[in-house]
Amino acid sequence: MRTSVTIAALAMAASSAAQEAVECKIVEFPVSVTANNEDFGNTIDPNSVSSIDQFLSQGLSTGAVGVVGQVSTSANFSISAQYCAPAGATPPETRPIQLLAHGNTCDRTIWDALSRPDLQASGYSYQRFFASQGYATLAIDLPGHGNSTIPDPNTIVQLPIEAAVIDAIAASLRSINNPLGISFPKVVFTGHSYGSITGVAAARFVPTFADAVVLTGWSAFVPLPSPMLALQMQPAALLFDRFKGYPLGYITASNETGHEEIFYAGAYDPTIPKMSFDTQDVMTCGEGGSLGEGLQPAIGFTGKVFATTGSEDFMFCNPKNGDCADQLANSAFLFPNATSFQTQVIDNTGHDFMLHTSSTETFAKIQQFLESNV
Ligand SMILES: *[C@@H]1O[C@H](CO)[C@@H](O)[C@H](O)[C@H]1NC(C)=O
Ligand SMILES: *[C@@H]1O[C@H](CO)[C@@H](O)[C@H](O)[C@H]1NC(C)=O
Ligand SMILES: *[C@@H]1O[C@H](CO)[C@@H](O)[C@H](O)[C@H]1NC(C)=O
Ligand SMILES: *[C@@H]1O[C@H](CO)[C@@H](O)[C@H](O)[C@H]1NC(C)=O
Repeated sequence: MRTSVTIAALAMAASSAAQEAVECKIVEFPVSVTANNEDFGNTIDPNSVSSIDQFLSQGLSTGAVGVVGQVSTSANFSISAQYCAPAGATPPETRPIQLLAHGNTCDRTIWDALSRPDLQASGYSYQRFFASQGYATLAIDLPGHGNSTIPDPNTIVQLPIEAAVIDAIAASLRSINNPLGISFPKVVFTGHSYGSITGVAAARFVPTFADAVVLTGWSAFVPLPSPMLALQMQPAALLFDRFKGYPLGYITASNETGHEEIFYAGAYDPTIPKMSFDTQDVMTCGEGGSLGEGLQPAIGFTGKVFATTGSEDFMFCNPKNGDCADQLANSAFLFPNATSFQTQVIDNTGHDFMLHTSSTETFAKIQQFLESNV
């Protein structure tokens, strides 16, 4: 009897050394920010479906919308976030916290296997992987997404103010003055897709916002017309009950086939695209029209950058723009003063890399970057 108890205890000790238990909780960050948002003049009538259609199809086809100037915009947001860390004590001070920003038609659940226990158990949760390896992560819902404040989609929810939100939350994580009550000595920003583009602007506005930057589902090169046309985006309020009452400038994919084509390729479980389509979030006209703000060099940033994207990501490694590895390497022009700019193409993987067969392999590559560079 005694022997078998000892063996069981040893087995438990061994498994907890390899993989720590994980704790996640929801927290709200109040943020008060000001940014120079784009002024679209009269090019968008917020109450007209046809005006919104016109704005979208022009933006996605040509990459240009009628920006007439910039306007200083202030707002207070309640930013909803999920914090995950090794269970029990405060995370080790030597390891950085990652601030995670999701992409478009998504919310923070993309970093936690769509909040589904079955997918979490199968290794698709970025947050649970890193917590099991001893790292804290904070996945935020950008303004207008998930359970964060839902403000005006055209004038307020734009890339510049979202970059300012990232800067404000990153700064608060370094002080004790945040809802977690923990001060983190090192902060790494990790973005996916639109979240990565926004992170480039966050680095341009406040170069010290993060000690290192990880950009996933990203490159500096997006093809036109945009492959996102396949999503056939329409006002979300007219498509799905859960978005009833959202202003018309909140849009989302109407075409489930297009959703699978854009976000998945290579090796993935074919039952997952329906799950992500059924729980997809929104994007805004303001986000689409202000994308250019995230394509300007973050010259002041002097930390390290790691860019990793699926070889089959048709939005950010489109064959039209050449070899995927070259596209990633050539994206270094956005960080001319970074200490290093490292890249990694993920084979056989599409845009939502965390929901592909290679998920754990990619998480481990990012962990390796953090361990040898931050
Ligand atoms: C944000 O909140 C502060 C404090 O409550 C208030 O003074 C300010 O007017 C608010 N700003 C906006 C743009 O609503
Ligand atoms: C938002 O809040 C609702 C109600 O509390 C919850 O059911 C939902 O899962 C939350 N979504 C996110 C993305 O946090
Ligand atoms: C959805 O997109 C697919 C191809 O991406 C297309 O064949 C199909 O006709 C579209 N469905 C609708 C209802 O437009
Ligand atoms: C960054 O690099 C540019 C050249 O790309 C240079 O002109 C500039 O002075 C550098 N800025 C900083 C803050 O190091």
